[in-house]
Amino acid sequence: MKSFEYFNHLEDLDAESKYLAHKAKEAAAHAYAPYSKFCVGAALILDDGSIVSGANQENAAYPLCMCAERVALFAASAVHPEKKIIKLAVVAHKKNHKDLTPATCCGSCRQVLVEFEIRQNKPIELIMLGPDKKWMKAPSAISLLPVSFSKESLDN
Ligand code: THU
Repeated sequence: MKSFEYFNHLEDLDAESKYLAHKAKEAAAHAYAPYSKFCVGAALILDDGSIVSGANQENAAYPLCMCAERVALFAASAVHPEKKIIKLAVVAHKKNHKDLTPATCCGSCRQVLVEFEIRQNKPIELIMLGPDKKWMKAPSAISLLPVSFSKESLDN
């Protein structure tokens, strides 16, 4: 099984991952985050090379806030249901700060990512800026959420 990889600088990542992180940063500009002032962008690449991005969308009814990753994932599924997701990058910055701040996928997004992996029978690589400010590449969502809940429990 592939393991986690860590990189001190974004430049040390492969070209595709760097590009996705760049697209995620662009997407963060479209965050609607008036409450948290925490702007998140996500960008994913599909098996035909197309890119789908998303940004977090908040609401005055706080539990309705939607993470950037799920905005991108659901958009990809709605527009390109037949295509597989190869890799997703997520980045964040505080409002009015241009420097990126560490942000790893929340538990809800990990759960959704795992179901995408099961549906498409293919792992999704994840690129994130870890808490130690190192870029991390996770080989799959399941590597970040082992023993997750799945449809299997419902079917049994
Ligand atoms: N957020 C994301 O978009 N992705 C994550 O993985 C973590 C959190 C958003 C949700 C909310 O709009 C803001 O960041 C603060 O939690």
